[in-house]
This record gives sequence, structure tokens and C-alpha cells, in this order.
Amino acid sequence: AEDKTLDRDCTTLSRHVLQQCQSFSAQAQDLSALMNRIGLAGKLIARHLSRAGLMEGVLGFTGEVNVQGESVKKMDVYANDVFIAVFKQSGLVCRLASEEMDKPYYIPENCPIGRYTLLYDPIDGSSNTDTNLSLGSIFSIRQQEGDDIDGKATDLLANGRNQLAAGYILYGPSTMLVYTIGKGVHSFTLDPSLGEFILTEENIKIPNHGSVYSVNEGNFWQWEESIREYIRYVHRTEGYTARYSGAMVSDIHRVLVQGGVFLYPGTIQKPEGKLRLLYETAPLAYVIEQAGGRATTGLVDILDVVPKKLHQRTPLIIGSREDVAKVESFIQNGH
Ligand code: AHG
Ligand code: MN
Ligand code: MN
Ligand code: MN
Repeated sequence: AEDKTLDRDCTTLSRHVLQQCQSFSAQAQDLSALMNRIGLAGKLIARHLSRAGLMEGVLGFTGEVNVQGESVKKMDVYANDVFIAVFKQSGLVCRLASEEMDKPYYIPENCPIGRYTLLYDPIDGSSNTDTNLSLGSIFSIRQQEGDDIDGKATDLLANGRNQLAAGYILYGPSTMLVYTIGKGVHSFTLDPSLGEFILTEENIKIPNHGSVYSVNEGNFWQWEESIREYIRYVHRTEGYTARYSGAMVSDIHRVLVQGGVFLYPGTIQKPEGKLRLLYETAPLAYVIEQAGGRATTGLVDILDVVPKKLHQRTPLIIGSREDVAKVESFIQNGH
């Protein structure tokens, strides 16, 4: 009989994608190669983070402000460049659209029209880079529609239901990669001795309810009253516990594993909230929905939102279906 552990140790990202596709079609091969390269980006970023305190130029700010109006960390720039370097000469990706770049980065020379676009948040939770806390990268792969002659990438202004793949890398005590291509959610753990992401869990299902609620209560008085009412509800109801790390990838991974809800609501000043649709809320919504959970702006499903611009923001309520429904009940009934 085949050695089970040996077989599992050989279930790398690229093999798993082909198993999931149950075919060796061109698109299956492409997705397998794409996921393998996402894995390489994760390894390069994990390595850089693990040596942050030992090297110059890893910690701290660049002094720049990005298109989001955020102070840019050196790690934001390094991770952004990693994804570009990894996908050049890959023959797979025509464009990379990132939280850190005003416009997409084009790789026309090696990419016939109609191939793939990578949308990504190179470092999610930048505020954690100088404090050795967990943080992540978020990715989404879409098919390029048309030829984007004007370089405005208007074909990307589509809802999240047409994502070919989505997921995140969590740089924690171990480096994990979680992904979906629409056939369930699967997690991999980086084995540094092999330099491979090895399958750890297949078809992850999020509990229908969990005790965790994850939100930055520092914004309490900026929220709509209905969100404040929900927070008062969990404060006075037994069985809830607060967890908030500053990196949504960590907080949402906890919700995926243990159940519960993560919220980043809009505020009176910024009704759209802080989080970006194309490379943050839509990929995470795809993962959580594939795991049996929900993701909404509070009024519509995240995956149905059609952005008007590349860096469009949405409010986010995401996690276990019962917990998301509870938040929606406060928003919809205004109680
Ligand atoms: P990023 O570091 O990519 O800009 O994203 C940070 C996001 C998310 O990861 C986190 O949950 C949230 O911003 C934290 O924002 P607040 O500090 O406003 O809570
Ligand atoms: Mn940012
Ligand atoms: Mn982010
Ligand atoms: Mn970021």
C-alpha cells in the first residue's frame, strides 16, 4: 500500500490544483502554474519577514504615501515587487493590480491577450510589520477580458463571481496558504525543509456559528447606530469574545477555523469603509463563501458588488452564516 504520509508530502500546490480540476486542460495547467508561483511569492516574503530584525531595509517606513493615502512600509514595497518579479517571464499573467500601485503593472511582452490578471494586496496588516506580529498577502486571479488597449483595465470593474482563484498567505508561527478555485477551500503549510507548501486540510468548512467577533472598537463612535447596537448586543450576551489583530488575514483565518464574524463597517465620514474590494474583500468573500460562510457589505453580498474604480472600497461583514445574519438583522431592522 502506498505510504500515506509520503503521498501527502507530495501533495504540493501545483499537484493539488490539477487534482481539483480533474483535468489537464490548458486552464487547469495554467491555474496549477499560477498557484505554484503564488507559493514562490509567499516563500520569498516569509523568508524576508523572518529576517526583518537582522537586515537593513526591512523594517520601518519608506516615507512615501500610496494611492490609498497610507504611509508605505518598506515591507509593502518589497512584497509588491516580489509578486511582479515572480510573474514576469511566467507567460501567464498580463497585468498585476495591487493595493500599492495606482495603475496596473503590464507585462505585455510575454502574454497573449486574454490570459490572466493577478490582483493582490502584497502585505495585509502593514501596521504589524515592525512588531513581529502575523500578517498576510491576499490574491485573486481573473481572466483578462478583451485587450485593454487604453490601459485603463476597465474589464476588471466586474463583480467577484468571476474570480478564477482567490486566497491568502498567512505569515504566522507557520506560513500557510489558503486557496479556492471554486471547488472548496484548502490549506497548505510551508515546510521550510522542503521549500514546499504541503496540503494540510481539504474542503475546510466554516462553523455556522462561533464565539469570536473581530472589529476595531476604537471606531465605535464613528459607526452607524445599528452597528453600535450589534456591538452592545455581543457585549451583554454570554458566549462572545473579542479578537482583533490588525491584520484581517489573521483575523479572518481565525474565523474560518473557529467560526464567528469579522467586521470592518463604514463610518459616517467614510460610508465605504477602509477595505478594498478587488484585492481584499472580494477574494476573502470568495474563500469564505466556498467554505460555507457569508460576506456582505451589510446590504449586498460582497461578490455582487460591481466596482466603479480599481481601488473601490466596501464595508465588510464576513464569517459564519448565523453571525453575519445577526449583524444584518441589526442593520436591516435598525434595532
Ligand atoms: P493593509 O495593511 O493592507 O493596508 O490592510 C490593513 C487592513 C486589515 O488588514 C486590518 O484588519 C485593518 O486594515 C486594520 O485597520 P484599522 O487599523 O483601521 O483597524
Ligand atoms: Mn495598506
Ligand atoms: Mn490589506
Ligand atoms: Mn496592504
